[in-house]
Amino acid sequence: MTEEELHTVVHLPKVELHTHFEGCAPPAFIRGLAKEKKVDLSKIFRPDGSYDYRDFWHFLEVYEAATSVLKSPEDFARLCKAILDESADQGIVYLESFISPDFCGGGDVGAWKEYLHAIQDAAAEARRDHGIVMRGVVTCIRHFGPEKAKDAARCAAETAGDWITGFGMGGDEKQGKQRDFAWSFDCAREAGLKLTTHAGEWNGPSEVRDAVEDLGVDRIGHGVNAHSDPALMDLLAERNITLEVCPGSNVFLGVFGALDQHPIQKLRARGVPVTVSTDDPPFFHTTMKKEYEALARTFRWGEEVFRELNKTAIDAAFCDDTTRAAVTKILERP
Ligand code: HPA
Ligand code: ZN
Repeated sequence: MTEEELHTVVHLPKVELHTHFEGCAPPAFIRGLAKEKKVDLSKIFRPDGSYDYRDFWHFLEVYEAATSVLKSPEDFARLCKAILDESADQGIVYLESFISPDFCGGGDVGAWKEYLHAIQDAAAEARRDHGIVMRGVVTCIRHFGPEKAKDAARCAAETAGDWITGFGMGGDEKQGKQRDFAWSFDCAREAGLKLTTHAGEWNGPSEVRDAVEDLGVDRIGHGVNAHSDPALMDLLAERNITLEVCPGSNVFLGVFGALDQHPIQKLRARGVPVTVSTDDPPFFHTTMKKEYEALARTFRWGEEVFRELNKTAIDAAFCDDTTRAAVTKILERP
């Protein structure tokens, strides 16, 4: 692969489907808010300024500590602006982000609407500035349990529309079962929302099957452990259930030892719809440009493969078809 080919790949217009809103906050942004609010967060940062955690479970704790300084709708609006400026710089033309009512008003519908308005205003400004399109996916948090998830689902249902277009679940996959959250996913589906859930990152392929069979999701967050179950890969392919694969996150957290051991290529070869995202870019020391460059080098993927990944992503995006067509046009530019 020549430097010119790499340059082309890295600068392609991109669709990103799997980011956690607060997880996109640069450490300096969180430190700045902590200082303003006189909160001592020194224990979650390393001397070099990056986030400090030992493993995924400690990451979830550090994540919640970092998020604790985002206290008002204005804080979330500032974060939204920062995220979309950086995303536009990465060549992202369409972004979906997981937003949790638990962190935006504690699951209260009235408070959630205020947070959401502030975030949407900031997203509209970024659209005017950069042309970038954002959609929100309301997300419950698995380790907060099914009752808190119902609050998140009610918030999602109350604000479902052309901006909040999906419902999902993040958090600790080792807690409870997918089916414990069926009420919330049914509530969101009835409100017209598309569905996704984290599955098959830390648990095996049976978790992915549960997500499909018990929750009826349209997409899977990660889903990469499906690679060890050929029948499951075929099921995902047949039903066109798209995986939101986050290779850099998986390698950084040790799900796979290195990118050349990552199953994204195997899944793709089997016909499973796969896409590429960053998850929580500053936490995992990644960006979309870095993901594209590393994948191109490791798997010798050229421009055509990345164009196909982006086509898969926009086809699986939770936006309306008018938006999908407009973004597709941008992706198809030579
Ligand atoms: N995975 C699961 N839950 C999360 C994450 C993540 O990367 N970030 C924030 N919540
Ligand atoms: Zn995630």
